Amino acid sequence: MAFNLYHFIKKITTKSSNIQIDYTKLPEHIAIIMDGNGRWAEKQGLPRTAGHKAGANTLKRITEFCNEIGVKILTVYAFSTENWRRPQEEVDALMRLLLEYLKDAERQLAGKNIAIKVIGDISVLSQEIQEQIIKTENLTKSNSGLLLNIAINYGGRAEVVNAVKQIATDVQNGKIQITDINEQLISNYMYTKGLKDPDLIIRPSGELRLSNFLLWQSAYSELWFSNIYWPSFTPKHLLKAISDYQQRNRRFGGI
Ligand code: FPP
Repeated sequence: MAFNLYHFIKKITTKSSNIQIDYTKLPEHIAIIMDGNGRWAEKQGLPRTAGHKAGANTLKRITEFCNEIGVKILTVYAFSTENWRRPQEEVDALMRLLLEYLKDAERQLAGKNIAIKVIGDISVLSQEIQEQIIKTENLTKSNSGLLLNIAINYGGRAEVVNAVKQIATDVQNGKIQITDINEQLISNYMYTKGLKDPDLIIRPSGELRLSNFLLWQSAYSELWFSNIYWPSFTPKHLLKAISDYQQRNRRFGGI
């Protein structure tokens, strides 16, 4: 562990003495439902879009922190298949933030060895955003540190529908046989193909549901909820979630 990181973590653990982390047993894959941006903003008399901007800053901070402590994969829910129902102004603001985030990624994350990937149906996004997604993914794909998966126009059910259609097409074309279909094969038709399922799913803001996030992949994920709104979420909250996760007894259906 780097000298600076050691002191940074030590500082956090001493400030909140009840947080104990075993850095050799970190969750490999953490997923976050970045909820509460709107309520955070409203509470302060700000427009909801200010909450999303603050949420994007939190994302940057938490991404860097996950990379520093050695988490391998971070998957965040940025825009769901249902979020199109929001007022056009809010949808536009979220899309602008996303574009800025992707454009800035190269500069902001420079030297940080973070790879960025977008999961979801991006075919309905603007041409500009689609091109930027491909550019950012290509620019960062050989980075071997943290993989940041940003879920955009993502829905767990839509992902399953998409996988079923592709599997049916491949059966029709003779690429695979019906008897080849098993859990592993289905996982390989998901957006998260090749990635470990999330060990820990975090949802701030007080809501206690998955809201169509990683439905297939969350079968044995540990869930962690908090009342804190996403813009106020700090590395300390993340460490608390990891610490609680490390107290859990994961049995995966066994005893
Ligand atoms: C849920 O909070 C959050 C979203 C729908 C958007 C999440 C987006 C960001 C954190 C920033 C943009 C992302 C990137 C990748 C730059 P909410 O609006 O539902 O909050 P509420 O439940 O309090 O209304």
